[in-house]
Amino acid sequence: MENNLNKIICCIGAGYVGGPTMSVIAMNCPDCEVNVVDLNAERINAWNNKDLSKLPVFEPGLEKIIKKCRGKNLFFSTKIEENIAKADIIFISVNTPTKKNGVGAGYASDLKWIESSARQIAKFSKNHTIVIEKSTLPVKTAETIKTILTSSEQNNISAIDHKGQTFSIISNPEFLAEGSAINDLQNPDRVLIGGDDDDSINLISDIYKSWVNPEKIITTNLWSSELSKLVANAFLAQRISSINSISALCEATGANINEVAKAIGTDSRIGRKFLKSGPGFGGSCFKKDILNLVYLCRYYGLNEVADYWEQVVDINTWQQKRISSLVIRNLFGTLSNKKLAIFGFSFKANTNDTRESPSINISKNLLQEGAKLNFYDPKVCEKDILIEFNEKIYRNNVLVSDSALKAAQGADAILVLTEWEEFVDLDWKHIFEVMRKPAWVFDSRNCLDKQRLKDIGFKIWTLGTT
Ligand code: NAD
Ligand code: UGA
Repeated sequence: MENNLNKIICCIGAGYVGGPTMSVIAMNCPDCEVNVVDLNAERINAWNNKDLSKLPVFEPGLEKIIKKCRGKNLFFSTKIEENIAKADIIFISVNTPTKKNGVGAGYASDLKWIESSARQIAKFSKNHTIVIEKSTLPVKTAETIKTILTSSEQNNISAIDHKGQTFSIISNPEFLAEGSAINDLQNPDRVLIGGDDDDSINLISDIYKSWVNPEKIITTNLWSSELSKLVANAFLAQRISSINSISALCEATGANINEVAKAIGTDSRIGRKFLKSGPGFGGSCFKKDILNLVYLCRYYGLNEVADYWEQVVDINTWQQKRISSLVIRNLFGTLSNKKLAIFGFSFKANTNDTRESPSINISKNLLQEGAKLNFYDPKVCEKDILIEFNEKIYRNNVLVSDSALKAAQGADAILVLTEWEEFVDLDWKHIFEVMRKPAWVFDSRNCLDKQRLKDIGFKIWTLGTT
C-alpha cells in the first residue's frame, strides 16, 4: 500500500543506519522527499557515486533501492542548514560511541554528536518539526534534546513552543542488523515508537504503515522506547556470551557446541536464533550499548545489576583471549617469526564494517607474540585493515592480500575469524600445498567442513568441538 503523506524528511547522519533506513523509507513512501545529510563530504560523495559498487555501506539489496530512488525522492547532501529548514520530520541518526575521556569514560555514551545535531535543528528549523531519535541513546536523552531545542521551562516535552518554532520529540530506535539491513528494514519484527504526542506518533506510524503490518507497530512512552533498545541489544549479546562460555566447556568435555545449541534451541522458550558460538560479538553497538546500560545502572545505584550485565562484555573479551592463547599453544607455544593468515576482518559476514571486529583484538594478541599476519577479507579494503595496526609494534608485521590463496602462502596457520560463505568453497587442497607444514586451520566460526580439511592433511581446531 502506498501513502499520500507528502512530507519532507531530513535525516542527520548518512551512516550504516541513516543511509539504508532512509533508502527504505524513500522506496516505500514515494510521496515523501527524503534528504540524508552528513558533515562528512567524502561519505556523501560516496552515496552519490554513479558506480553503485562504491557506496559507503555494503548491504545486500541496497544498490537496487539507491538505483531506483536516488535523485527522485532520495537525496544525499552536505547542505545541512537548508535541509533542516524545510523538513517536517528530522531523524537524528548520528554516531553515539562510548566516551573516551571525562566523566563516565569507558562506559557512558558520548552524546556530543547528538548535542550538535540538536543545536543545528534549534538554529535552522522552521514551524513545527518532529524530531526523531533514531540513534541508540541512554534513557532520558530526549530531555537533553528538549533542553537544547528550547530554554523555556515546560513540563510537556513533546510540544515545545520556542520563538515560533514547535517541536515534538519521538524515540524510534532502529533494530536492523548489518548484513541483513534491507531485509530487516523491509520486514521488521517490530517498529517501536515512543513519545507522548499522539499526533506525531500517528504520523510516524502512518509512514511505517506504508509497508509494515500495523500490528507490528508498538507505541510506548519515551523512556520505555529508549530503554528497550539498550535492553534488546543487551539480551542479544547475553545469548552470545552464554553460548561462547559453553563452547569452552564443550572443548573440555567432548560435547559438541553445535549439538548443544541445537538441543537447547529446539525448546521454543529458548529459541534457535543467536546461538552460534564464535570469536565473540563485534560491531559498533553491542559493547557500547551494554557499557552504557552498566553506566546507567551504576548512576541509579543499581550496582548488582550493573555487575551482572558487565559480565556479558567480560566473557566476550575472555573468549577472544582464549582463542588467541590456544592458537599459540598449538603452534608449539611461540609465534616468533611464524606467518599466520587471517581469513576475515569484518565483524560478521555480508558487511564491510570492521568496528569492534573480533579480528582486531585476536590479531593484536597474536602480533604481540611475534607473529606475522597476512589478511584476506572479501569486502574490507586494505586501508581499513591497516588503519587498525598503525602502532609501530604492529606495522611491519601486517600484510593484506587480495585472495585467500595469497594470504596463505608460506603460512603456518590460517585463522577463520569471519564466516564468509566463500571460505567454505575455497580450493583448500591448493591452499594446503602452499603452506608450511604442519598446516593448521583454526576455525573460530565453525563454518568449514572439518572432515574434508582433515582428509587433505590439515591439522584443524574448530570452536566448541574436540
Ligand atoms: P555511523 O558512524 O556509520 O554514521 C553516523 C554519521 O553521522 C557519520 O557519517 C557522521 O559524520 C554523521 N554525523 C555526526 N554528527 C553529525 C552532525 N552534527 N551533522 C551531520 N552529520 C553528523 O553510525 P551508524 O552505525 O549509522 O549508527 C548511528 C546510530 O544508530 C548509533 O547510535 C548506533 O548505536 C545506532 N544503531 C546502529 C546500528 C548499526 O547496525 N550500525 C543499528 C541500530 C542502531
Ligand atoms: C545488532 C543487533 O542484532 C541489531 O538488532 C541492532 O539493531 C544492532 O546490533 C545495533 O544496535 O547496532 P549487528 O551488530 O549489526 O546487529 O549484527 P548481529 O547479527 O547482531 O551480530 C553482532 C555480532 O554477534 C557479530 O560479531 C556476530 O558475528 C556475532 N554473533 C551473532 C554471534 O557470534 N553469534 C550469533 O549467533 C549471532
